Amino acid sequence: MSARPQVRTGAAFDLAGDAAYQAWRTRKLACFPKSLAELVVEVRDPRALSSGERQALLERCERANMAIYASAAGGDPDKEIPRRLGLQLGLRDLDANHLADDDGISPLAVAARGTRGEFIPYTNRGINWHTDGYYNPAGRTVRAVLLHCVARAETGGENDLLDHEIAYIQLRDLDPQHVRALMAGDAMTIPARIEDGRVARPAQAGPVFSVDAGGFLHMRYTARAVSIEWKNDAATKAALSALERILEAPSPWMFRGKLEPGMGLVSNNVLHTRTPFADSPGHRRLIYRARYFQRVGAAAAAGNMRPHSSSIGEKR
Ligand SMILES: [Fe+2]
Repeated sequence: MSARPQVRTGAAFDLAGDAAYQAWRTRKLACFPKSLAELVVEVRDPRALSSGERQALLERCERANMAIYASAAGGDPDKEIPRRLGLQLGLRDLDANHLADDDGISPLAVAARGTRGEFIPYTNRGINWHTDGYYNPAGRTVRAVLLHCVARAETGGENDLLDHEIAYIQLRDLDPQHVRALMAGDAMTIPARIEDGRVARPAQAGPVFSVDAGGFLHMRYTARAVSIEWKNDAATKAALSALERILEAPSPWMFRGKLEPGMGLVSNNVLHTRTPFADSPGHRRLIYRARYFQRVGAAAAAGNMRPHSSSIGEKR
């Protein structure tokens, strides 16, 4: 099977012509991994990938916009692990949000008190479907996300994963008007964030689906009903309802994985969730999260596929 699903031109996402979409769709679905295990690449040292390991990660990201690495790094808390791994995959520019540590890599763990504890990522609560940084302005688009696991929780803390290109296909197959509605520049508005009586972030309107200069599809989305205003028309409501049904329905395209220490997820900011979790004295979940303005490097030589074993279970 060819493992090269994409030569993107952007034409595939143009609703005016169906031929390019159908051609891209056929290849995309034919190349898409059949199981989570197909996404997993065993790497010896994430800080210094071999050529083969690097190519294997890139190849999976081309097929599914995500890859999982499994390494022997275990519980090593060195932030250079995700940083250097990202660099080797072409990920250079970090989105340093105001809650991240100075180096732009956020340690996601339960915060006992303080500002972080007010934000769901720093609690043990579940997080519904979203893409990261959906509230960012267009100039700070989060195109890639890297999660590196230092410690797992006692129970829970799994991630559901859905390639946003698959979500696009499912929506367009249902009704191209759903895609049209979600590509509108005013489909979703992030209200201004007020802190201490001042506007910390102005309101931002933007699309759910957009196509970047390289012809790649980007998605901004959150299933949360708060802190977001959807365009109040029938087409947008219908599209959102359809998307919600897609995200709630079992499908072979959707994976569930749990990162163990030394493992990580590198993705082109695909749709994901997090299940609730419970820490114990011996297992306090710690995930390093890095958000980047680049996509995972696209230039890679073709490689042969081979199955990889994994301790992570498949969802469906
Ligand atoms: Fe996220």
